[in-house]
Amino acid sequence: MCGIVGYVGLRDTLGIVVSGLHRLEYRGYDSAGIALCVPGKRQISVVKTPGKISDLETLIAAKLVSDADRTAPIGIGHTRWATHGLPNEANAHPHLSMNGEIAVVHNGIVENYAAIKQRLTQQGYKFSSDTDTEVIAHLIQECYQGDLRSAVATALKKLEGTYGIAVVSSRHPDTLVAARKGSPIAVGICEDETLVASDISAIVNYTKQVIFLDDGDLLTAKAGDVDITSSKNVPVTRPPTFVDWDVGQIEKGGYEHFMLKEIHEQPQAISYAIRGRLLPDEGTTKLSGMQMDPREMARIDRISIAACGTSFYAGMVGKYYFEDFASIPTEIEQAAEFRYRNPIIQRDTCMLAISQSGETADTLAAVREAKRKGSMVLGICNVVGSTIARESGRGVYLHAGPEIGVASTKAFTCQVAVLAMMAIAFGRTRRLSTSDGAEMVKAISRLPDIARRTLEQEDAIRRVAEKYADCEDFFYIGRGYMFPAALEGALKLKEISYIHAEGYHAAELKHGPIALLQKEVPVVATVADIAGKEKTLSNMQECRARSAPVIAIATEGDDSVNAVSEEVIRVPKCPDFLSPVPVVIAEQIFAYHMARLRGCPIDQPRNLAKSVTVE
Ligand code: AGP
Repeated sequence: MCGIVGYVGLRDTLGIVVSGLHRLEYRGYDSAGIALCVPGKRQISVVKTPGKISDLETLIAAKLVSDADRTAPIGIGHTRWATHGLPNEANAHPHLSMNGEIAVVHNGIVENYAAIKQRLTQQGYKFSSDTDTEVIAHLIQECYQGDLRSAVATALKKLEGTYGIAVVSSRHPDTLVAARKGSPIAVGICEDETLVASDISAIVNYTKQVIFLDDGDLLTAKAGDVDITSSKNVPVTRPPTFVDWDVGQIEKGGYEHFMLKEIHEQPQAISYAIRGRLLPDEGTTKLSGMQMDPREMARIDRISIAACGTSFYAGMVGKYYFEDFASIPTEIEQAAEFRYRNPIIQRDTCMLAISQSGETADTLAAVREAKRKGSMVLGICNVVGSTIARESGRGVYLHAGPEIGVASTKAFTCQVAVLAMMAIAFGRTRRLSTSDGAEMVKAISRLPDIARRTLEQEDAIRRVAEKYADCEDFFYIGRGYMFPAALEGALKLKEISYIHAEGYHAAELKHGPIALLQKEVPVVATVADIAGKEKTLSNMQECRARSAPVIAIATEGDDSVNAVSEEVIRVPKCPDFLSPVPVVIAEQIFAYHMARLRGCPIDQPRNLAKSVTVE
């Protein structure tokens, strides 16, 4: 996902914009650029380049040599993940209007850019890029009649699609304009400076009071002063959200990669996710963000879960929970399918939208479709104030802290913990007894320690990785609670080590995939000591009969796996319903070391972005 940073104020604009872009690097990008407005200079100073921000800094040092540039009071910057046009200098943002007096950075997609580009070209506008974004810069010039804010507002009305934009003009070197429709924009207001960014990690260093623009909002900012108008073009006040992260949490904290840091943060992250939410004496949980009393929960007769990727696999675990603990029919599907298949939503259906970033386009679209059909929606997000969290209207935050690595780790285990707490609350409005609920709640309270003890296995897991780092194909198998665990393990391995890894239900192998097994194709069997284990042991035997080496992820002390495994990775014993947590943590560690041994760019895997905000 691309990154936006804008600044207007009395300090080092260039330095603040560039360091903000550094904070957004984790999101993945392939070009970067900045634009500065210098009072009295009609031409905006722009420096942009394919590659990394370090390349941009080298160019800035060579090109922006004047004191005027370096003391500019206003500027914008961008990291771009190519969607229209190659990652090269011409396509990098910021984009300039034809007269060079307006600069724009943009996240999102302008769906009608071709028609606009054709019309403007016929009117004599000259384009220098293949991007959709460039039309915005020329449109604003076309609409400009002396007031930057109204020129931007008029131009945006002509766009179809999504945008998060920041705009500066050399005619107004004290005014920063920003707007959002479908792509997040956060605003940090300090005493005599204002920052805008697509992600709060570029802001939290300066202020913890952050305003999140709503779709249709348009911000006009001067140093320390902002005006916001809504989609109805009327002034609105957006209350600031206190962001309880600090920059330190976004730094690597001594780890080689953000991913490894976040794997090891899981005991703490899970403790934050469950803190204040367990009521052992009442055998239930308290999730005030759902804004549902027991009567409302008792009325829900169906649950529909929509999510993508790792969040989808956490949702699969959640399906078992809601059906096992609360006897509520629960379906889960890829968020991208949900809105296109005309889903059946009834009066008492509740959608759970699971999304770490809270910005995944397909999941957001599923939320909007569910709301159009009258469904209640609960968001399960990690990023406070994210679009899905706000448009769901209610739900449960993970409180896992920022997840920077592209591969999701602590979000998964916290999502599982939150889903378990939700299902217990729903279950207690049905047949789940106080004593059974109390037992489950106590088990959840021990989850941080389960995670911590799993992390102690890292060296043993790394040694297994060292044996199989050259393999190019893997299978992951599991059943019951281990089935989503197997799918998640396969996703982790493929997305950061680039090894082809397939997750399969253990019973499904013999329906075809087993044809692929041979000694070069290891099989990771997620076989915690829970219901269904015996059948998975048989499946492991079938794999070994085809010479495939079997790597078992099994419960400590369970020797039944030894005879059917080449390697055994041990995880702590825990109740069946929590077994995905230690098993998936072991898979995260395995995938991390496989990728590290293969020299892969673990935090920014090729082709991937941290948040997929386009369909
Ligand atoms: C997981 O490691 C991947 N990065 C990806 O599958 C991710 O889980 C998916 O894009 C959903 O993201 P979200 O949770 O932010 O919605």
